[in-house]
Amino acid sequence: MLDALKDELLSLVNAAADLPALDEVRVNALGKKGRITGFMKELGGLSPDERKERGQALNALKDVIAQALDARKLDLAAAHMKARLEAERVDVTLPIRPETEGRIHPISQTMDEMIAIFAEMGFSVAEGPDIEDDFHNFTALNFPVGHPARDMHDTFYLPDAPSENGDGKKMLLRTHTSPVQVRTMLNKKPPIRIIAPGRTYRSDYDMTHTPMFHQIEGLVIDEATNMGHLKGCLVEFCRAFFDVDDLPLRFRPSFFPFTEPSAEVDIGCLRKGGELKLGNYGDWLEILGCGMVHPNVLEACGIDSTKYQGFAFGMGVERVAMLKYGIPDLRTFFEADLRWLKHYGFVPLDIPNIAHGLTR
Ligand code: DAH
Repeated sequence: MLDALKDELLSLVNAAADLPALDEVRVNALGKKGRITGFMKELGGLSPDERKERGQALNALKDVIAQALDARKLDLAAAHMKARLEAERVDVTLPIRPETEGRIHPISQTMDEMIAIFAEMGFSVAEGPDIEDDFHNFTALNFPVGHPARDMHDTFYLPDAPSENGDGKKMLLRTHTSPVQVRTMLNKKPPIRIIAPGRTYRSDYDMTHTPMFHQIEGLVIDEATNMGHLKGCLVEFCRAFFDVDDLPLRFRPSFFPFTEPSAEVDIGCLRKGGELKLGNYGDWLEILGCGMVHPNVLEACGIDSTKYQGFAFGMGVERVAMLKYGIPDLRTFFEADLRWLKHYGFVPLDIPNIAHGLTR
């Protein structure tokens, strides 16, 4: 009789089409109310000899069925996986998705490259608002009231927005990234080593000026920071950024209200037949402004100028992007022309990184 049950249960196990069906077979055979379990319960009513014999037979049957269940379970799981692999197969020969034709704008790429270089030197990125007040954009940076430097910046004022600090002045669109220096020094104790990339605005529009453009600002403040550090930092940066190992830099005395002494930095170049080549060729091209942070600026930001000193620099992102990538007209950066972006843009996964090279 047990043989018949065994055959029946084994054929049920083999006929189970999936894991839930198999589990049902298991419950019907070995569960609390299962058929084999039912016979087990009857053992108590037998004589000791019969019980021993019947018990062994039932246990053997139970083992056979349990093994068959395990084996069938493995088969079903393997079949399930095989079917899934079939169904979810990826055809790697299909053309790539159209989204990957998107390009990174040269300004984003250039800023990422600059950040990668300065990050390697230990700078961190700081940010400030595009809408500034007079204090952060001018006064704290040692622009005297009524100084022509304020007009030089051709500032966009927000006519209906009086400054929140109650100075009676109007809010404005920041004319440079230097106010981020002020915000950083007001919020953080030295040592400070930051760069601040971002948008800036001036009322200007021609071949070489757009009302919105980008700058990157640098600021280092510590007890013994000097002009040698400024020079080393900028030489290192320019050589890495333009990928010219012996690129010469020239520091020319200049004036900014927020630095003393101040300098403009030129890099070596060659102008020939309308073309420009960077390197040690005897000609010069201006690319950035810098200097030692003016004591008045340190004091306006609550930093003891007898204990701390440091350097700052500011650079136009469009200008260096045009130089590096040979983009001739500034205005094209902001015309949102997809053909232009396709030509000058960068592949999204080409993330600038010093170790792998900035651009490929
Ligand atoms: N803020 C200046 C500008 O917009 C650029 C600049 C020059 C920034 C010298 C600096 C600096 O931090 O030290 O023209």
